[in-house]
Amino acid sequence: MSNPSAKKQIENLRQQLNDHNHRYYVLDDPEISDAQYDVLYRELLDLEEKHPELVTPDSPSQRVGAAPLESFNKVTRKEPMLSLSNLFSEEEFLEFDKRVKKVLETEEEIEYIVEPKYDGLAVELIYEKGLLVTGATRGDGTVGEEITQNIKTIKSIPLKLTGKNIPKTLSVRGEVLIGIKDFKKLNLDQEKNEETVFANPRNAAAGSLRQLNSQITAKRPLTMYCYSIAENEISFPSQESILKALKGWGFRVTPLAQVFHSTKEVLAYYDKIKEERDQLPYEIDGVVIKVNSLSQQKNLGTITKSPRWAAAFKLPSQQEVTQIEEIFVQVGRTGAITPVAALKPVRVGGVEVRRATLHNQDEIDRKDVRIGDTVVIHRAGDVIPEVVKVIATKRTGKEKKFTIPTTCPVCSAHVERDEDESIHRCTNFSCIAQLKSRIEHFASKGAMDIDGMGDKLVEQLVTQKKVEEPSDLYTLDLEILSSLERMAEKSAQNILEALEKSKKTTLGRFIFALGIRHVGVQASKILAKQFDSIQALYDVDEEALIEINEIGPEMARSITDFFKEPKNQNQINKLIELGLQLKKEEKKVSDEFAGKTFVFTGTLTKLDRNEAKKMVEDRGGKASSSVSKKTSFVVAGESAGSKLTKAQELGVEVLTEDGFLEMVQ
Ligand code: IVH
Repeated sequence: MSNPSAKKQIENLRQQLNDHNHRYYVLDDPEISDAQYDVLYRELLDLEEKHPELVTPDSPSQRVGAAPLESFNKVTRKEPMLSLSNLFSEEEFLEFDKRVKKVLETEEEIEYIVEPKYDGLAVELIYEKGLLVTGATRGDGTVGEEITQNIKTIKSIPLKLTGKNIPKTLSVRGEVLIGIKDFKKLNLDQEKNEETVFANPRNAAAGSLRQLNSQITAKRPLTMYCYSIAENEISFPSQESILKALKGWGFRVTPLAQVFHSTKEVLAYYDKIKEERDQLPYEIDGVVIKVNSLSQQKNLGTITKSPRWAAAFKLPSQQEVTQIEEIFVQVGRTGAITPVAALKPVRVGGVEVRRATLHNQDEIDRKDVRIGDTVVIHRAGDVIPEVVKVIATKRTGKEKKFTIPTTCPVCSAHVERDEDESIHRCTNFSCIAQLKSRIEHFASKGAMDIDGMGDKLVEQLVTQKKVEEPSDLYTLDLEILSSLERMAEKSAQNILEALEKSKKTTLGRFIFALGIRHVGVQASKILAKQFDSIQALYDVDEEALIEINEIGPEMARSITDFFKEPKNQNQINKLIELGLQLKKEEKKVSDEFAGKTFVFTGTLTKLDRNEAKKMVEDRGGKASSSVSKKTSFVVAGESAGSKLTKAQELGVEVLTEDGFLEMVQ
């Protein structure tokens, strides 16, 4: 191929790759598959290999990292990167607003723009004639470290600017971070490869960005949100217009920035962000409130290192320090043994926390958590609180190590560790603890919905050996039930009626009731839609299951394992002989919730939040994260906080999780 035509082809490929890259990493809206992208990328690499003279620094092929450095060079900037003063309360924000008005000599409301305060690392990017030439850390504001090679590996940062009005020189500032999902995945990978596990996304981002070997940085899921530019030849009227320009040039910019015309609106938005914090894809530690008008910003100026026109309004910390009083284990439905730390009670983000999960033995060992340790705990919204790390300097020497017992604390059976998991399990399928959770689950609202079959009753039935498997529930009679503690004949009669009523159910509920590992409400429904009867699942193979959209390999294996097991087939047959009638799920999604908006808050114990949202959407409703007068229902799980209060204030109907399940099923 002649050079001019190769050049053209290369340019065309770069253009396409850059567009797809931008769609994928900045807009979250890919148009082609990863495989299709790879084909184009390969083509570019082949051509560049044949024509090395045509390789340019802005080619997508230059994102893989370069030879390791000995050390970072220093960069000195003319316009320092400022820091922000912090506000911790509404009063402090109102004082800030007063100061702004005083300096601007106005009594009118100020136009503010509010943005998330990303919990990452501040970085500056320099573009010359539209090409990325330098990337540097903030450092002390004036002198930072040059990390251009590392910056180039971050796919959401354009190597070449797009759009109109590109200034000759442009300095863009923003925050480099790692999203929460990516962080979790990164840590799993790190653990698998026996590499450092990071304490939080910020540390992971910092460790990845300050790598002397940019090939390592290239493998880390860093991203960058841009929020400002240093002074340049284009004069912008407002911060809002700067964000718009940045977006146009190809940078990732938050969609959450909003302009407000009163302090009241700013405070309401702060509350909204506080509520939605846990649903954001990345961690934030506050909001940044900026005077929107650039001419007003100029008039306000800066004092020492922070501007008078902006401030960080911090969110309550999601981490607290407390002490582990004891460590005990819980035995779940599938026999999984989870170590749990009993804590000296502490308030985190407005909720009292007494327990935190330690996940499994590997986590205990990795963090070296001991009984008596002073620890940092983390609580975020719906997630079970967890121990983040031990404060080793607080040790007195009296702390005790903990190991998961080799026998089940409930039934004394042997405890085994799954080969490819870090989970210990009680091997006794008839373990009372397992049996109890299985029966409780079987009878619960989202499953067979046996009214009155609560924890206490199940406990008695199981410990007195009246119930050893779910089908035994349907052989209970008045005599057995009324012989139980605190059970009058009338209540016993009610239970029998509830049992009878529960026999008429749907295939989906029944599948869920079986308590198959990894199979939740939603997956059960999907299975019910795909299969005509429960027996059709007895000899289904894994591949057929994986072909169903929402079912992954792990779930597929769990399903086939469950139905292959003769004991399970027998149990199902027995239940059907006892009169269970399974209605087939309708294929069509209903529109019973059309025009209705649901908000979920607090900890849901039976549903995962996404599942719950999908259930609403499947019925034509909308799931939203903030409560307003327009909200139809607020579903409040355990420890629901301010959204519940707001719903009550606004007179919005509040449902429990069970109430919601009843409604959908
Ligand atoms: S504006 C004067 N906007 O907060 C303007 N900063 O203490 C200062 N930060 O190191 C920066 N999110 O990295 C701005 N939306 C945002 C921000 C933000 C996070 C960080 C920034 C800086 C620190 C300021």
